[in-house]
Amino acid sequence: MNAFLRIRPVLLVGILCAPLIAASQKPAEISIQADQVTAHVSPLFYGLMTEEINYSYDGGIYAELIRNRNFKEDLKDPVHWQMIKEGGAAGSMSLDAGTPFNAAVTATLKLVVDQASRTERAGIANDGFWGIPVKANTTYKATFYAKAAPGFAGPLTLEILGNDGSSVRAKAEVSGISQEWKKYSATLTTGNVPVSAENKFVILTDHPGTVWFGFVSLLPPTYKDRANGNRQDIMQLLADMKPAFLRLPGGNYLEGRTLETRFDWKKTIGDVSERPGHWNDSWQYWSSDGMGLLEFLDWCEDLDMEPLLAVYAGFSLRGGARITLHHELQPYIQDALDEIEYVTGDVNTTWGARRAKDGHPAPFKLHYVEIGNEDGGDREPGSYETRFAQFFDAIKAKYPNLKLIATDPVTTRAADVIDEHYYRRSEEEMAFHASDYDPIRRPVGRGTSEVFVGEWATRVGEATPNWSAALGDAAWMIGMERNAHLVTGESYAPLFTRVDPGGMQWQVDLIGYNSTTSYGSPSYYLQSMFATHHGDEVVSLTAKNVPAREWQPPSGPGIGPVPAGGGSYSQAARRGAQSTTPLPPSDYTRRPATPLQPAAPVQLSLMSFDSTRDSKTGTIYIKVVNRADTAQDVHIIVSGVSTVASTGRIVTLSGSGPTDTNSMADPKKIIPIVADLSGLSTDFTHSFAPFSVNVLELKTAK
Ligand code: AHR
Repeated sequence: MNAFLRIRPVLLVGILCAPLIAASQKPAEISIQADQVTAHVSPLFYGLMTEEINYSYDGGIYAELIRNRNFKEDLKDPVHWQMIKEGGAAGSMSLDAGTPFNAAVTATLKLVVDQASRTERAGIANDGFWGIPVKANTTYKATFYAKAAPGFAGPLTLEILGNDGSSVRAKAEVSGISQEWKKYSATLTTGNVPVSAENKFVILTDHPGTVWFGFVSLLPPTYKDRANGNRQDIMQLLADMKPAFLRLPGGNYLEGRTLETRFDWKKTIGDVSERPGHWNDSWQYWSSDGMGLLEFLDWCEDLDMEPLLAVYAGFSLRGGARITLHHELQPYIQDALDEIEYVTGDVNTTWGARRAKDGHPAPFKLHYVEIGNEDGGDREPGSYETRFAQFFDAIKAKYPNLKLIATDPVTTRAADVIDEHYYRRSEEEMAFHASDYDPIRRPVGRGTSEVFVGEWATRVGEATPNWSAALGDAAWMIGMERNAHLVTGESYAPLFTRVDPGGMQWQVDLIGYNSTTSYGSPSYYLQSMFATHHGDEVVSLTAKNVPAREWQPPSGPGIGPVPAGGGSYSQAARRGAQSTTPLPPSDYTRRPATPLQPAAPVQLSLMSFDSTRDSKTGTIYIKVVNRADTAQDVHIIVSGVSTVASTGRIVTLSGSGPTDTNSMADPKKIIPIVADLSGLSTDFTHSFAPFSVNVLELKTAK
């Protein structure tokens, strides 16, 4: 609630309910039968989905400030590093394959200083991820591994230096550089400096000589002071969402385009200076793997979320990487079993012991494991069935209580849950699909699996969704919550984007940031609002006189109700819903879309509703979305309770129009407003603002 603005004035329900809709149209009416529970809301409402996209980890939530810290981003060129020479200083900098640091870092950065003095120093500089950010009175922790040639022992001066070349924001000195590889640490504390990212991190010397660097790191203060931790501001935004789980580590990032570029979890644990990192070819940039498996789990622990672990399932986005034969798949099944043991095993297990050695003796809770990601993209008939069955059998044999999530419909094994992804092109398209999970619209023949909507978004706005997108999201979220008997949980995607030029590969992301600040989109506040305002039971709600507008669905796949009467839920249509989104830069082709169909106009509801109840307190949460451009009266009738307290609360998120939005310049333009209500009873009318999403909180007694 700390992200929500609270206003005190009591709204007089009766006064504010003047009807603004056409006289001919009766106001909408909703009837809530509070003693008729239609579903139980799973603890997975609501969660987060994450992967390395849009500089989500490196240059994002992972706090490391040095880019290319082990010089592996480009094996020919030490990108993001430059030579610095003051005045008449002379020297050179190069990658040296002849002086490896460890098995992971075989080419190190060699600095040769031919001439330097107290006033004319030479050294190396790193430009970070769009600069090295600083703020006042803050301590930064520098760590580096170095080795000197005979005749050189330093000292080395570490500075966070303004791009003007003269403004030293903070500095420290390290001396006694040895001729063996050794770790050096220092702290750099700023004074009263202005917040800025226009800085570099430099390592300078005033002595001629040669020194090699194997790994260089600079960390600001991190969330909960983790040694290899996360950025505080972004973690705080997430903490305010009170998320239930984190789906990790992808997305396409899990699979990579090849076996070699998948998320190979065993290479992401242990000392960060020994992690090789890998080329993130799904999104085309280097991943340091500083955000490794244990860091994901720490992240979960810090926000009191459960991991929802996706394991590599033998399919990479370049189809040729698929591995279906049992003897070939076996090592990857074993990797998944080991991974689950690393997460959940006690210290007497092999991988539980390894986790303890890595710094976390206590096992983590895990209830859900997802087998792959979007395996509908695997076009070989039967391939996912075969792969899923092998993973399913092996995991269930060892961990019978784990719920296993399939990423595409399977028939030979009873997947506990199926993960469905929906990226929609407009508010209307999303609102149109908001009833897809209603029993009347959901096709039969889908098996008994619960549905996990692991990725979805209304893709309008850049870099983050605008208010129109949030209205589409709200209608869709109501559809999911209302159908909690079927829908187990949801996570919006993608979660993050860097807003600097070149920082975004996927337009429309929940949270935006640069090096110094971050902000939540309207959809972010919507997620927070839904996550913090719902009960554990869905109660019956019927609506009538709901205002609607004609909408002409664009022709093409992905539009139109899902096939009724036992038809299979078309994978092609499901993919087609994403067809105008830029595909990842890979040669993975989605399944062929169904032929274009001229779609008939439809009447699209302008309002959506659902109602949940807290079984312990009796509080009823009524969600009302008004996508219309005029205020709408709603007549609300509550039965199945003896009383509704005359006072309650309303939380409202509203924008002035569809294109209204939050941004780096105006980060809190659209945030939830909390107000008190009076005049409530089992039968009352309330007027809901144009373009608004609302939660009414009613105190009831049975
Ligand atoms: O969220 C962006 C991408 O969309 C994910 O990596 C992938 O799973 C989906 O296609």
